Amino acid sequence: MQLGITRPLTEAEQDELSSEAFDSYDAYCNRWPKSVREWGPSAVVEWSGEGVWLRDIRGRAFLDCLGGYGVFALGHRHPRVIEAVKAQLDRLPLHSQKLVNPYVAEAARRLAGIVPGNLRKSFWCNSGTEAVEGALKLARLYTKKKTFVSTTNSFHGKSFGSLSVTGRALFRDPVAPLLPARFVPFGDAAALEKAIDADTAAFIVEPIQGEGGVHLPPEGYLAKVREICTRRGILMIVDEIQTGLGRTGKMFGVDHEGVQPDILCLAKALSGGVVPCGALVSTDEIWSAFHPMPLFHTSTFGHNPLAATAAAATIEVLTTEKLPERAARMGERLMAGLRELWRSYPKVLAEVRGRGLLVGMEFVAEEAGIRTAEELFARDVLVAHTLNNPRVVRIEPPLIITEEQIDLFLSKLRGALEAIGK
Ligand SMILES: Cc1ncc(COP(=O)(O)O)c(C=O)c1O
Repeated sequence: MQLGITRPLTEAEQDELSSEAFDSYDAYCNRWPKSVREWGPSAVVEWSGEGVWLRDIRGRAFLDCLGGYGVFALGHRHPRVIEAVKAQLDRLPLHSQKLVNPYVAEAARRLAGIVPGNLRKSFWCNSGTEAVEGALKLARLYTKKKTFVSTTNSFHGKSFGSLSVTGRALFRDPVAPLLPARFVPFGDAAALEKAIDADTAAFIVEPIQGEGGVHLPPEGYLAKVREICTRRGILMIVDEIQTGLGRTGKMFGVDHEGVQPDILCLAKALSGGVVPCGALVSTDEIWSAFHPMPLFHTSTFGHNPLAATAAAATIEVLTTEKLPERAARMGERLMAGLRELWRSYPKVLAEVRGRGLLVGMEFVAEEAGIRTAEELFARDVLVAHTLNNPRVVRIEPPLIITEEQIDLFLSKLRGALEAIGK
């Protein structure tokens, strides 16, 4: 297969590339969620993206309301990010490991400018799970305690550390034993209070459980958690890998309650949808635990200039285009339309909920959710269920989505619900 094609493909090339892609995917790739051959009509080959649109190899355009699980907050190929990354790519894509890189420093400075309170120092990595790994290590180093408390049905990643605090037995049990962690119900501050013991280093929590099925906690929960963690002398790690950077209608999910975590984890949207990127951020005081030995936590591709450039440009776009505010406005429009559909199809939809542009539709049964996602796919709209809760289909479009595109989505959803209601 030829690499780096930018010209339009002939029909014969489209056929050939598709068939090679299916064969190689089947033979050499991890089978998720099923073998490509079983995917049926949704087995199509992706080819290009622009804004809210993703195109397949034959030019079919999908309205991307999945948004790469939160990666495409700025849409596909935002021009500002592409321009900055291209310049870096042409000059110095990866770093020497020895000299100081100006754009890595600039990305960290810009990040410190948008995170809550006195969070300042950051470690940059390549994924969400790595950000959580770093946070757990930092919490142990700082507190000199060993165990963690997390929430049932949470999702923090699948490497050993982050999996240890991911609240789903299906992913944990086959590879146990993991790090010591206790699980308490999400939204239940009293249960957290009870679960903390003398060896607890930190509590890790998402402001909204994304993969758990888009669950919002009761009002005041995060502030109460903050109070408990401070009083009991444990760290509050907030995982904003999905909720962060504008998704919920404010820059961070914790901003809805004016809470400052001790350690904040980010990834997904930080990439600008262009270069994989994650980060953990903490205060100078907590970061001092890394100082005795800065090599406690490193990674060859960590702090790489290509990703840092993408992140720095992303932060610029988020603030200059006021995308958090836009997400709040578009989210209200989306939610109003969804509530109307919920009233019209109560036998199919059990609930709709969310904040900003992190929205979930809970179906009465898993099958209804699967069929709705298929009907939407047939209508050129991408959505997917949440990882821990297949009854919930998430709607997570780029934050740049327009009112007309929200209305287009709602009309296609109405068609899909009508089709499966029959
Ligand atoms: C809240 C949260 N934390 C952590 C992760 C793991 O991130 P990654 O898949 O980049 O390792 C995810 C991924 O969905 C997530 O939603």
